[in-house]
Amino acid sequence: MRTAPLPPPRTPGRYAVGVVCLGNICRSPMGEVVLRERVDEAGLARHVRVASCGTGGWHVGESMDHRSASALLASGYDPSGHRGQQLDDSWFAEFDLLLAMDSSNLADLGGRSERVHLFRDHDPVHVGADVADPYYGGERGFTEALETCERVAACVVASLQRLPGVRGRA
Ligand code: 4NP
Repeated sequence: MRTAPLPPPRTPGRYAVGVVCLGNICRSPMGEVVLRERVDEAGLARHVRVASCGTGGWHVGESMDHRSASALLASGYDPSGHRGQQLDDSWFAEFDLLLAMDSSNLADLGGRSERVHLFRDHDPVHVGADVADPYYGGERGFTEALETCERVAACVVASLQRLPGVRGRA
């Protein structure tokens, strides 16, 4: 199966990607940090905004789960800037693409639509799979989630570079 094409930008030359999970402390902050890093490396930071939120509001304002932060730090990423946010209607209006970490998050977003995909609709290794919630599990779930985030981020950035008006480094 092929990875999904990106929906078109609402504003030419600009693009906003929102990563969504349940609590916004484990998976979606990891996806946000990794995707932003790849966007920066590709020279796309002026064009592309990356953010994350949770469908639940329990962790609004909190920093990320220490296990996600440790996995990111061990691979050279900076997890320190994260503060939890909750999904509201503005995310549907402002973001060109919302990426749900699992099928339950996708259902909470109203299901797949042009601008709502599963995060792993952009994972060439297993298109359309869930990023399993690592919250109640061991460290392995966090390192697996990070590997998935790195594959998806590379795929999304390659797709962003093909959008008209979005210019980065060649
Ligand atoms: P996340 O993991 O959705 O990947 O951030 C969770 C974090 C917190 C909770 C559930 C999942 N919670 O129930 O508080």
